[in-house]
Amino acid sequence: MNVTRLDNRLLVVTEEVGVSAYDFNFELHFSCSHPYQVDGEEVCVLRIGPIVDYEAEFKEKMKFGLRPVNSPEQHALASELEQWYPLIEEYTPRSRVFDQLPRVEEIEADFEWPVFLKGSRQTSKHNPDLAVIKDRLQYEQVARRYRSDPILHWQKPVVREFVSLQPVPGRVPGKVQPSVEYRSFWWHGACVGWGRYWYQLPPYECSDVRAGLAMAAEVAKRLQVPFLVVDFAKTSAGEWTVIECNDAQESGYVGVQPAELWRNVLATVGG
Ligand SMILES: Nc1ncnc2c1ncn2[C@@H]1O[C@H](COP(=O)(O)OP(=O)(O)O)[C@@H](O)[C@H]1O
Ligand SMILES: [Mg+2]
Repeated sequence: MNVTRLDNRLLVVTEEVGVSAYDFNFELHFSCSHPYQVDGEEVCVLRIGPIVDYEAEFKEKMKFGLRPVNSPEQHALASELEQWYPLIEEYTPRSRVFDQLPRVEEIEADFEWPVFLKGSRQTSKHNPDLAVIKDRLQYEQVARRYRSDPILHWQKPVVREFVSLQPVPGRVPGKVQPSVEYRSFWWHGACVGWGRYWYQLPPYECSDVRAGLAMAAEVAKRLQVPFLVVDFAKTSAGEWTVIECNDAQESGYVGVQPAELWRNVLATVGG
């Protein structure tokens, strides 16, 4: 476990994950010190990749006086569609969460084909074959694969209205058609960074991204999660929609400039 105090004000706990869009070398950008112990209790930000059991991780860190910035409840609110959806329903594609894979009739009672299928937390690495379901037949096939997919099988299935998004030029192999989508990071309700979601592609622009950020700000205000990510995209009809929320501790920076993000975080922490 690497514990680093940035600019004498904020503790980050890091582990190198090996994902370039996630890892960040704080030492190159900030004055860093490495406390060997913490007096009392101090807030920290975890940058240790995906966390399988957040509650256990939280308790483990608390033994060292390190209190992760999001509580286990806030982590669940940020990560599980089942929890964030009811709070921001009007800003995101209509969705239904199931305890287990629904029968085809249950889907057809509420949705038109195609539908977007994912787990309450995530898709299987943006694989469109398992996410964009065009009809009954494909659903039957995907249902079988869902049950054995390592990422999907333990998650509650979510069926979402498929919303046509404004495509951007280019494809990323094995992933859904990229669209005008952005990721935004929120620290106690303030935007500390935002940027293109599809960082692998030539840069795309959108003239009214400010309207998307305003929607994301409202989402952050409703969720009240200390360190939150809100992903939002432009629909083909020209409206902004929230794709998903997440615990920012687990989120990759994608097209967001990490040094600037952490500078903004440190500015609000004060010191
Ligand atoms: N309801 C939807 N309709 C159409 N496309 C969607 C919908 N939800 C997500 N997408 C597309 O699929 C991608 C992956 O979905 P997302 O919910 O972000 O999964 P993950 O949690 O695995 O990142 C998004 O970046 C977006 O391009
Ligand atoms: Mg996503």
